[in-house]
Amino acid sequence: MTPSVIRSGAACGAEIVFDLSREMDAPTFRAIERAFHDNIVVVFRGQQLTNERQIAFSRRFGELEIHIVKKYLLAGFPEILLISNVKDEQGEHIGLADAGFTWHTDTSYRRRPSRCSLLYAKEVPHRDGRPLGDTVFASTIAAYEALPDAMKKRIHGLKAIHRYSARRRVPESPRPKLTGEQLAQTPDIAHPIVRTHPYNGRRSLYITAGECIGIEGMPQDEALDLIAELDAHCVRPEFLYRHKWQLGDLLMWDNATSMHLAICDYALPERRLMHRTTVIGTVPF
Ligand code: OGA
Ligand code: MN
Repeated sequence: MTPSVIRSGAACGAEIVFDLSREMDAPTFRAIERAFHDNIVVVFRGQQLTNERQIAFSRRFGELEIHIVKKYLLAGFPEILLISNVKDEQGEHIGLADAGFTWHTDTSYRRRPSRCSLLYAKEVPHRDGRPLGDTVFASTIAAYEALPDAMKKRIHGLKAIHRYSARRRVPESPRPKLTGEQLAQTPDIAHPIVRTHPYNGRRSLYITAGECIGIEGMPQDEALDLIAELDAHCVRPEFLYRHKWQLGDLLMWDNATSMHLAICDYALPERRLMHRTTVIGTVPF
């Protein structure tokens, strides 16, 4: 039976009604994959997943990436990266505490950036009965399509340069610094500003001010202005979907056709814990 899909009504985002602890045959998977590409961000509510199950479902979309920050990989399950503000008895963060605090797409610093990321909500902070720590997504398909023709022509064929360490972090970020060896594994990488989706051929914008440090063949001042202009365009309200978390949400997003931002409006003792899996994608074109 094809799972039902409930669209958010925003530029992206939908709920897919399916219990991911059940077996999933190939036609059902294909229906889910299609709904995922169509809606860019999809949530499966009320899940009860073991680590193995989250990993197995994620693997259906491709090979999993073991995140470069090793400190926060779940013991025994290196495919799962902990995203959390929680600290252990020694006062050490148990997970990445500053993931996504600026607009970005996941692992754009890779030659093969993430196809999709999956975030499973284990603990969601609340205040006065309302969830905190929303995640906001921008459809970069909608953003690309809304560009004036002159801008589409101007950026056609251009490549932006992405850098891992470029992203602005929170002040005094607890995130461990990359070792020299890890830095050497993440050289600057140029990707097309206008991407073509590898599955459905749709065009999208692939550029964020937090991660792009220049544009190939363009003077630096002009490049930074253009990056800022396109970044600001992408996050116009009409392109956004804001996800309000519930415990048991398995949310996944398409890194080729969206960018996202984590809202940090909570603090301990308000606890947030997410399990993230990351699927490696193809070389952008
Ligand atoms: C991520 C990320 C956002 C969030 O895991 O890639 O950006 O709201 N997370 O935790
Ligand atoms: Mn992210």
